[in-house]
Amino acid sequence: MTSILTADAVGKAYGTGSNRLPIIKGLTLSVEPGEFVSLVGPSGCGKTTLLMCLAGLLAPSEGEVRFKGQRVTDPPIGLSVVFQDYSRSLLPWKTNLDNILFGMRRVTGMDKAAKRDRAMEILSAVGLTGFDGHYPWQVSGGMQQRVAIARGIAAQSELLLLDEPLAAVDAQTRADMQDLLLDLAARFNQTCLLVTHDVEEAVYMADRVLVLGPRPTHVVREIEVDLPKPRDQLATREHPAFLHARHEVLALIRSMRQRTVAA
Ligand SMILES: Nc1ncnc2c1ncn2[C@@H]1O[C@H](COP(=O)(O)OP(=O)(O)OP(=O)(O)O)[C@@H](O)[C@H]1O
Ligand SMILES: [Mg+2]
Repeated sequence: MTSILTADAVGKAYGTGSNRLPIIKGLTLSVEPGEFVSLVGPSGCGKTTLLMCLAGLLAPSEGEVRFKGQRVTDPPIGLSVVFQDYSRSLLPWKTNLDNILFGMRRVTGMDKAAKRDRAMEILSAVGLTGFDGHYPWQVSGGMQQRVAIARGIAAQSELLLLDEPLAAVDAQTRADMQDLLLDLAARFNQTCLLVTHDVEEAVYMADRVLVLGPRPTHVVREIEVDLPKPRDQLATREHPAFLHARHEVLALIRSMRQRTVAA
């Protein structure tokens, strides 16, 4: 099978000369079509920087990124990003509905009315019925974040990169959104790469968890998640395979933290 996304020995540094700060070093990963991959790593280790490099929004300093076999130099068609900073990713002069329709501008095989229906359906699925005509600045932070997720999903891209998309929503909404994302990813056969600092979320969502090390970061371990689908908020989280994977990720993060503190 051809990987949908690969990063080969990617390195990225900000600044030059004595101000040079290496963020990513020798990072290799691949994502297969239809997979849901979670990426966890310490705060500030370079997760957002990595996602920007994978999305063609930042050029790596070393190595290469490929999307469907093609080297990524600009943001490729077929790849969408839900940004961590949702407050700046929505267009303030467009309503929530128009923001989602904007995200769907490359969707083919649907006329205007069908796109509008789909956008309204997804808005309702993220719990925003009745807020289609509001502007992003007229709704709360958590609601804006849900609009941003709705826009990412509505784009029906082959690959969706999500940067801590559920960070600003309350626990119950978060669980609902996790299930919604999994359901839509399965329905549209969408490949997803999710950055999260929540280890339980990482395991719950994923077929595979990639654990990143401290800066300059790279993938230190890959953990297969052998859990039945569809996932269930209660049964999955009590499953021995869930507890095993969660333990493995937590123990690894803990050992890395102890090493960083000791160094
Ligand atoms: N444009 C930039 N120029 C210079 N340094 C930057 C830039 N963007 C990020 N950095 C630095 O790079 C490092 C990694 O930042 P990045 O946002 O990629 O980490 P992260 O893992 O996403 O963090 P968080 O867990 O807070 O989301 C940080 O030290 C940050 O200060
Ligand atoms: Mg980040």
